[in-house]
Amino acid sequence: MTTTLTAGPAGATRAATLLRSGELVALPTETVYGLAADALSVEACEKIFAVKARPLIDPLIVHVLGLPDIEKLCSDIPTEAAALAKAFWPGPLTLVLPKRSNVPDLVTAGKPSVAVRCPAHPVFREVLAAFGGPLAAPSANPFGYISPTNAEHVLDSLGGRLPAVLDGGPCTHGLESTILSLLERGRPVMLRPGPIGQAELSSVLGIPVSAPKPHSENPISDSQDESTGELAPGMLARHYSPRTPVVLFGGQNEPRPMLYPSPADAWLWQARPTEAALAELVGDHFWLSEDGDAASCARNLFALLRKLDARQPSRILAQVRPQGTGGLDAAINDRLRRAAAR
Ligand code: TXA
Ligand code: MG
Repeated sequence: MTTTLTAGPAGATRAATLLRSGELVALPTETVYGLAADALSVEACEKIFAVKARPLIDPLIVHVLGLPDIEKLCSDIPTEAAALAKAFWPGPLTLVLPKRSNVPDLVTAGKPSVAVRCPAHPVFREVLAAFGGPLAAPSANPFGYISPTNAEHVLDSLGGRLPAVLDGGPCTHGLESTILSLLERGRPVMLRPGPIGQAELSSVLGIPVSAPKPHSENPISDSQDESTGELAPGMLARHYSPRTPVVLFGGQNEPRPMLYPSPADAWLWQARPTEAALAELVGDHFWLSEDGDAASCARNLFALLRKLDARQPSRILAQVRPQGTGGLDAAINDRLRRAAAR
């Protein structure tokens, strides 16, 4: 039985008490809901891997209240980290830095680095303050499935497997944080696109930020960056995936769908399609926003994918975004490509 806790001082206190006793609590962040545990307790973090059926090679993100807190977790904090924290924390940016020995190897999947993030959501911050230490939290979904962007999503896929979810309403961004590795001096590498884009990061750092590698069809080679030897299982080709097959359309060279649609298909559009398209294309039609605004599309993406998956159409025909300049365009397309990968 999973209890839904209401946001507020009583909910935060109850969540902190559970976390202190080594239990898991699902918490809202501004990106997606996280499955939180005491980051310095191996026993508590083991429960995260068990509940999510997450492979032990996939490291967790450690959440803190602010920059000073990462001194206890990271052995070397380059000036770049401080500059980025000043610009984007609290917010949807995760930094990968060399770890200290007190961070359990389980949390970092045996790597010498740790991913740290300072969430902006007031409810998550209230729990961090009440708990008084760092919290490990991956997205609160079964491994490989669509991340949760409200408390109901958590209950739908993990209900009964953890004592409590703290309901903080729907998430603002709706996509997981941008992950940036600062392990190599002068060579920042984006490991996962997210709400904060490559251009924004580069402009704060004053140097170029390498883009994430486009995923290949091979999840094994994809999960290893050959140049750094860095494992990033969140970079697996197939991830964030509904059970229903997803087929993409609307890439640069394909302005018109060429999908031989059937009435059993569900269409996922970025913006409301034209009346002509609706009249011409069989199947059920859904759109992420009226006008294609990137922030609205990102916020609604995972909820709509879950909704369509539950309807059990024969396929989800999903429109990718034209390559825009914003970080969200790249992040939305990244999640859609992974959802479509087989
Ligand atoms: O927005 C978010 O980041 C959400 C919320 C809950 O904070 N969390 C999240 O966690 O998306 P998760 O576990 O779903 O994704 C964590 C990913 C891993 O799959 C891996 O790719 C990367 O973070 N990661 C963690 N530690 C790392 C490390 N030491 N080196 C490289 N990548 C790391
Ligand atoms: Mg995840």
